[in-house]
Amino acid sequence: MKILAIESSCDETSIAVVEDGKKVLSNVTYTQIEIHKLYGGVVPEVASRHHIEKITYVLDAALKEAKLTMNDIDRIAVTSTPGLVGSLMVGINCAKTLAFAFNKPITFVNHIHGHIYANYLTSDFKFPLIALVVSGGHTELVLMKDHFDFEILGETLDDAVGEAYDKIARVVNVGYPGGPIIDKMAANGNPVYKLPHIKLAKDSYDFSFSGLKSAVINLHNKALANNTELNAFDLAASFQEAVVDVLCSKTKMAAVNYNAKQIIVAGGVAANKGLRKELTKMVESLNDVILTFPPFEYCTDNAAMIGVAAYFQELKK
Ligand code: KG4
Ligand code: ZN
Repeated sequence: MKILAIESSCDETSIAVVEDGKKVLSNVTYTQIEIHKLYGGVVPEVASRHHIEKITYVLDAALKEAKLTMNDIDRIAVTSTPGLVGSLMVGINCAKTLAFAFNKPITFVNHIHGHIYANYLTSDFKFPLIALVVSGGHTELVLMKDHFDFEILGETLDDAVGEAYDKIARVVNVGYPGGPIIDKMAANGNPVYKLPHIKLAKDSYDFSFSGLKSAVINLHNKALANNTELNAFDLAASFQEAVVDVLCSKTKMAAVNYNAKQIIVAGGVAANKGLRKELTKMVESLNDVILTFPPFEYCTDNAAMIGVAAYFQELKK
């Protein structure tokens, strides 16, 4: 089954063709990062306008790269939620138009399911598995006992991890998006600043990152007020250490308590080098647990992951 998948939930206009949930025949993404950089974050109205301008070019490129025409496509898939409403609408309207014009069925896909299924491009799934979802909008621990069977064990009570990275980067003025920049800085610093590692109740799978974010911002503001210098690399390393410690320990607790055979990491923050390193170390302490990350290019928003998720969503029907 060849699925033409569309993703436009935030600031990436992406269209892919995926065969049988595994083979990416094409994945073309136009990113608006350079535009939103000017504002230090995504401006929803600007994002939807750029999706409209680019989506037909991205569609053409995706079909060309796959060496296919719409006649070769069996099904359309599109991200329907969650995301910026105006941005989502552009993808959904494109999908509906193609479905009507070429008489194809549509699958509406949840964006987070897409991030989870990006891991299927690396490895088959072994159940029960624990998915650590870490994106700009979500932080969740999800238990999967089968394909397309999702039980949310815990989630953030305030900021998502990626959101905390982006907000801190904006305050300390190192650029946008903050995640990859702070990740690189952390590799060149030492975690010398004392920051809270907020784990909430001992047996809770929920997260909270706003206290940690405020602690970093307060440290920065105090240094400014006192005319003292903070080492930005050490601050990045200290923040990243706190984030990674909390994510790793909760993921381990979930994997042990639910006898997970596999841990998968989903969302933009799955690209984080510090997180990859510590999770790899943590999994070595567990018996026979497979750790999977999506390929780097499929960590942040892309349509290929939506095509994979749509395939399994349809199989499950
Ligand atoms: O999954 P994604 O593309 O969009 C959402 O669905 O939210 O994630 C984007 C988020 C941004 O907050 C970005 O800063 C973060 O992922 N990110 C990272 C890294 N690469 C992207 N965060 C930490 N370390 C990274 N290397
Ligand atoms: Zn995303």
